[in-house]
Amino acid sequence: MNKLKEELNLFRNEGLTELNNASSEKELNDLKVKYLGKKSNLTTFLRSLGSLSPEERPLVGKLVNEVRADFENIIAEKSSTLKEKELSGKLSSEKIDVTLPGRRNDIGHKHPLTLTLERVKNSFINMGFSVAEGPEIESDFHNFEALNLPKDHPARDMQDSFYITKEFLLRTHTSPVQVRTMQQAKPNSPIRIIAPGRVYRRDYDATHSPVFNQVEGLVIDEDINFSDLKAILEFFLKDIFGNSVKVRFRPSFFPFTEPSAEVDISCVMCNGKGCRVCSYTSWLEILGSGMVHPNVLKMSNYDPEKVSGFAFGLGIERITMLLYKINDLRLFYENDVRFLEQF
Ligand code: FA5
Ligand code: MG
Repeated sequence: MNKLKEELNLFRNEGLTELNNASSEKELNDLKVKYLGKKSNLTTFLRSLGSLSPEERPLVGKLVNEVRADFENIIAEKSSTLKEKELSGKLSSEKIDVTLPGRRNDIGHKHPLTLTLERVKNSFINMGFSVAEGPEIESDFHNFEALNLPKDHPARDMQDSFYITKEFLLRTHTSPVQVRTMQQAKPNSPIRIIAPGRVYRRDYDATHSPVFNQVEGLVIDEDINFSDLKAILEFFLKDIFGNSVKVRFRPSFFPFTEPSAEVDISCVMCNGKGCRVCSYTSWLEILGSGMVHPNVLKMSNYDPEKVSGFAFGLGIERITMLLYKINDLRLFYENDVRFLEQF
């Protein structure tokens, strides 16, 4: 009887130690079978009760049940701490470090021509101009005739055109928007607009594209004269190219303006020293301009005796080339990201 008690005690201590050291749910389950299962020593102890006297039996039976209860308690306790450990391990290995820098996506950006167009537009909007638009497929009348370029006029050759039908063509310049704006306005009412847009010509080399962008300007009111034209364009060019740029007005010819002037700026590549880009003249042509021809006013129901105006047309590609020192405008249309990424 005492020997049995001793063995039971030994078994209890051994079991408690081993169960307490279990390091995973699985190990704990295996030990549970070992200490509480049908083949466990505890079962053997119970079986051996038969060989004991009737007085001893309940005593040992009670002891065996106590050991079983001890085992069950420690297993339950251990199981819950192991579950907790597993959960906190999972939480720490799967946690998100919100202080890490985020993954960066490449975001797109504006095309250099768009950047220039926005600068040009803002410059004139700040001077009180509003923005007008016209169609890219234009009638011969709006593109030429109403601009004092009758059919068979030799000056039509200045802009080699893409005709779609006998009467319609892809506009060769934004000047037809002058005509459309005057015709939509109340006769002789003041006008102060710019008209940006795509235009088309049979042209192709390093400074000429078959599709390019112009911005037209038109100002009409009483007593508008050439000094207004000069002041506005000089102010605009200094706004875009900086105050140190030199501006030159050169007599020229356009059928829709009289007098006409082309405007040059000092070469931004060589700062006026002379280089290949300016053909060693140290000047670069940047836009065409002039006082609106009386015939143009008359054809759009404006009275040249009552009002006068000036107009101009500039090329966005040329300005962008000068702003960023690019020597071939075809780069703007090839969409090579290595080029576009630099803006
Ligand atoms: C005109 O187109 C006139 N309509 C401008 C004008 C408007 C004059 C109002 C007077 C009054 P021109 O053909 O010179 O003019 O073109 C104007 C500008 O467009 C040029 O100075 C140049 O910057 C640009 N340009 C002309 N052809 C091309 C081309 N093929 N590719 C890129 N830019 C061009
Ligand atoms: Mg020209």
